Amino acid sequence: MSECGPKFKSKRGFIWVATGSAVGLGNLWRFPYLVNQCGGAAFIFVYILCLIVFGIVLAVTDIAIGRKTGKTVIRAFLDISKKYRWVGYISVLIPLIISGYYCVIGGWIFKYLTIYATGSSDILNNDYYESFISCSMDGIFNSPIFWFILFALIATIVMSFNINKGLEKVSMIAMPLLLCILVVIALFVLTIPGIGEGLSYYFIPDINKINAKTFIGAFGQMFYSLSIAMGVLVTFGSYMDKNEDIEKSAFILGGIDCFVSVITGMIIVPLVHIYNETVISGSGLMFYVLPRVFAQMEFGHIIGLLFFLLASIAALTSVFSMVEVGMSIFTEIFGIKREISAFLNLFVIFLIGISPCLGYGPLSFVYFEGSYILEMMDFFANTLLLPFSAIGTCMCVVHALKIENLVKEVKSSGPFRLERIYSPMIKYVAPFFISLIFIFGVIQNFFPSVII
Ligand code: PHE
Repeated sequence: MSECGPKFKSKRGFIWVATGSAVGLGNLWRFPYLVNQCGGAAFIFVYILCLIVFGIVLAVTDIAIGRKTGKTVIRAFLDISKKYRWVGYISVLIPLIISGYYCVIGGWIFKYLTIYATGSSDILNNDYYESFISCSMDGIFNSPIFWFILFALIATIVMSFNINKGLEKVSMIAMPLLLCILVVIALFVLTIPGIGEGLSYYFIPDINKINAKTFIGAFGQMFYSLSIAMGVLVTFGSYMDKNEDIEKSAFILGGIDCFVSVITGMIIVPLVHIYNETVISGSGLMFYVLPRVFAQMEFGHIIGLLFFLLASIAALTSVFSMVEVGMSIFTEIFGIKREISAFLNLFVIFLIGISPCLGYGPLSFVYFEGSYILEMMDFFANTLLLPFSAIGTCMCVVHALKIENLVKEVKSSGPFRLERIYSPMIKYVAPFFISLIFIFGVIQNFFPSVII
């Protein structure tokens, strides 16, 4: 097997591609909800702390494993030790599952984008969102299946090019564009009369709302948002140049991701607050609450259009990274060309995504404790599987790869400022907290009344 896999061409290639993966629906609807629920600015502070203490260490770990082995996820762990190959399998399974339902939501975003682009006001009907996702509207363009396939197909086409022409180039254009759109919306929102009150609602810390849930929420959000232990950073690490500073890249990645989350929250929470709506969690915020808010605003139509454009870019670039993990495995295992593995992956996305796509309509009888198929898949990937791949990665570094070898890889291309805390972190602190979020997540799902 040749060591020489694909490599990013440009110096900033890794940063934009990894940021594309990190910035996604997690920033757009999960973060604002958490801030609103868990103590406003106090939550933001806890989140940034988590990011610096754990996020960077774990991101550095993933990237260094990828770059050191120069292999895709499954092979990377297999190479380090046969005993830890299960970590590779789980790390691949997670983005594969997420890609199925993420493309379903990406399809909804495309649909809303076209609605804003064509100037229709249909979405303001109170039951529009529900009838759309439950597949009860007539016509192919009103079918979530159509939009799901279109979204997955576009991601597949981009990814079927070689990484420099497809993934790298598109991310290097799309991500700066996303940041510009975000700043434009934020500046506009700051000019809205009465926004000051909404802003203080967002930024003023509410210490009383800080509890165990805040920390667990921040920790879980950090994993999801940075795509840690999901095979993504290992794969992109393997495409990274040997001279690229790993720790600095991880800091920039965490910084941009956090910036997007905080600014998105700064847009959404005050707006929803001043227009008397409620910040709810999940897709309802984006597809039900926000369109109603935009409809009440001056220039709301343009802001809505910009917002769904931003969301489309964020969702697409996140899916790119999930597809890359799947495809790189197919290419490696079957020895097939990239184009073919891209379409093979599309087929897999279709198989995985079709049931959550129908999950609010024909398959809505599959329902448990407030969750439809889509939420169940999210729970399975992020709450049940993720802790195993995260703890497995830590164990693999400690017992098989050895901490000193990982540190050597990081230091081969730049300083490692977190070196002193690295060892206790990866041996004890991170596994302890990851176990906590696992236990907490399971309790919250199956015995919600136990949680304070
Ligand atoms: N980080 C992405 C987000 O915040 C989600 C994601 C999960 C991306 C898994 C890649 C892999 O939405």
